[in-house]
Amino acid sequence: KSTKLWGGRFTGQTDPLMTVYNESIHYDKVMHTADVIGSQAYARALCQRGILTTAERDAIIEGLNKVEAEWASGQFQIVPGVDEDIHTANERRLGEIIGTHIAGKLHTGRSRNDQVATDTRIWLRGKLVEIEACLTDLLKAHAGRAAQDIEVLMPGYTHLQRAQPIRWSHWILAHAHAFATDLERLRQLYKRVNLCPLGSGALAGNPFEVDRDFLAKELGFDGVIGNSLIGVSDRDFVVETLQWATLTMNHISKWAEDLIIYSTAEFGFVKSADAYSTGSSLMPQKKNPDALELLRGKSGRVFGQMAGFMYTLKGLPSTYNKDLQEDKEPLFDCVRTVMDSLQIATGVLSTLEINPEKMRAALTMDMLATDLADYLVRKGVPFRETHHISGSAVSLAEKKGLSGIDKLTVEDYKGLCDKFEEDVKEVFDFERSVEKRAAIGGPCRKRVLQQIEEIKAKIAEA
Ligand code: ARG
Repeated sequence: KSTKLWGGRFTGQTDPLMTVYNESIHYDKVMHTADVIGSQAYARALCQRGILTTAERDAIIEGLNKVEAEWASGQFQIVPGVDEDIHTANERRLGEIIGTHIAGKLHTGRSRNDQVATDTRIWLRGKLVEIEACLTDLLKAHAGRAAQDIEVLMPGYTHLQRAQPIRWSHWILAHAHAFATDLERLRQLYKRVNLCPLGSGALAGNPFEVDRDFLAKELGFDGVIGNSLIGVSDRDFVVETLQWATLTMNHISKWAEDLIIYSTAEFGFVKSADAYSTGSSLMPQKKNPDALELLRGKSGRVFGQMAGFMYTLKGLPSTYNKDLQEDKEPLFDCVRTVMDSLQIATGVLSTLEINPEKMRAALTMDMLATDLADYLVRKGVPFRETHHISGSAVSLAEKKGLSGIDKLTVEDYKGLCDKFEEDVKEVFDFERSVEKRAAIGGPCRKRVLQQIEEIKAKIAEA
């Protein structure tokens, strides 16, 4: 006779490799608390329907507390080959503690199919709360840094070519904006994770009419999943989490890539703190921004986990199939990776050393060519003409061997367009250029401060 929990109809033994291939205990054991509280709630629901006496219910709840205590203290002994997953392991141990006569009643009307879906949602929602805290910390670090460094100007880039002057804080807040949207998406996603599948049975619902509203409430869910077939098989909440993690890691990767470029000697804008750098085993002078490179690199791994699991789902028929067990390793790995990454990114940004002089020195007068064109626009010349005139100024300065368009004389300018006057000299000021960009979303001081307030408001929403 088979020793398996489900072994009643089996006469042959399981292939040893199949036993290992089939088991998920070595990773799904992290859900032990979720499994215990799910079972305790289910015992209460069974008692309401007279399937368990109150004494039996209490024995089960107490026994499960002991099981949980063993997990918490590291004393739980997994029995290889018997404990297939966290659900069978906890039930087996409960039976040893309170006797199988009572423990054997707990699974009445329940299946591991609704059980695992419930456990995964309970486990995940707890992690989403932790992730939210990490993401909030990252946003706070951005808001703090943007306020502290507001004076600092730097070149803004398109095509990685110097384009126009901006505030360094404006760069910080661009990334904060993406992270704030990630926060919004995370909060929306949480609502879809926090729904209760328990009481769906194996697929066809619960024959003892357990009170599913009670189960949901007891377990802190916001609602019940209203179709038992979907209840046991829906893994969209896993997919959404993986996709969320992929997009968030993409944002982290772009942020890291910018900082890697800015920390090369050629730029020299920023320097990673020792806490987030490592050296070379061969070249004594090296200090590498490893934290940033790992933040960039791990985004690929998360994308891969997401794509892999979506591939698993593709082509599955309805309801539970064992393929769904493949949701956990990518989910657990992505959750850990994204949580670590958010914390590392927060550390990198809060300890980052910046070099405002280098940033300022990278600003060149040609970056004000647009401002020169805008100067003439303000004197009534159409932009398409001013664009041309400003271009001629750049080429004239070059021809004269001058260091920039600011070195041309007022007479030079009058020669290019009679609308130029003495005040053209005012254009050649980077601070002025940035402050002119005062429309919503611009890099001027007022709008940067506004963005900081918006980030703080987003954090405070719940
Ligand atoms: N370990 C399984 C999983 O993670 C639990 C559900 C097993 N159900 C079943 N009918 N074999 O999906």
